[in-house]
Amino acid sequence: EPVRDLAGRRIVVTAGGTREPLDPVRFIGNRSSGKQGIALALAAATRGAEVTLIGANLEVDAPAHVTVIPVGTTLELAAATETAARDADIVIMAAAVADYRPERVADSKIKKETQGDRLELTLVRNPDILATLASARPAGQVVVGFAAETETDRDALLAQGRAKLERKGCDFLVVNSVGWSTGFATEGNAVILLGRGGDIVGEASGTKLTVADRILDVLV
Ligand code: C5P
Repeated sequence: EPVRDLAGRRIVVTAGGTREPLDPVRFIGNRSSGKQGIALALAAATRGAEVTLIGANLEVDAPAHVTVIPVGTTLELAAATETAARDADIVIMAAAVADYRPERVADSKIKKETQGDRLELTLVRNPDILATLASARPAGQVVVGFAAETETDRDALLAQGRAKLERKGCDFLVVNSVGWSTGFATEGNAVILLGRGGDIVGEASGTKLTVADRILDVLV
């Protein structure tokens, strides 16, 4: 029998990667599969939480006993998360969010025949959902961010994580190293958890489900 130490808690998890359309058939995206966020949703539901999973272009099936809200773009993710977060005890932002989106979305396919040898795209900044949520969080709500960094040196990774925690103003930051063959779209993960003030409050490695349970242990 699993420990039901999250019974009665409402948890919102974002997962996957946002896609920003260029035209009706193309987008700018990232290689996040959604597996770590889905593992968090599954682990939280197993521990008794009422879970809302906001899934951006998930490549794997969402777990049972979880309310799934599918989204595509960062602006859709922002709207869905802000609504779902209103009465949540914990918000975990595991989704890989596009920092920029094309300024204009073409209403028909962009064609090389009309573009020629160069195609210039102008991108505009997306809102930072995590920073917005953290700054407006209701009393007692715990907001958790993720920092996927390509830095591999541990001290440099931690320094980047601490700076990000400060910028975002969240309660916890899950720092992990990602690259061509690690972190994104893989089965396993290795993370360091930073708490307020930048202290290391946990570390975990193994399957994404093991990592998810360890993160939840710290939050509990
Ligand atoms: O700044 P960076 O993208 O590295 O921050 C990662 C964290 O911030 C993740 O938790 C991600 O879900 C969140 N994020 C966000 N809105 C953005 C960019 C990132 O909420 N526009």
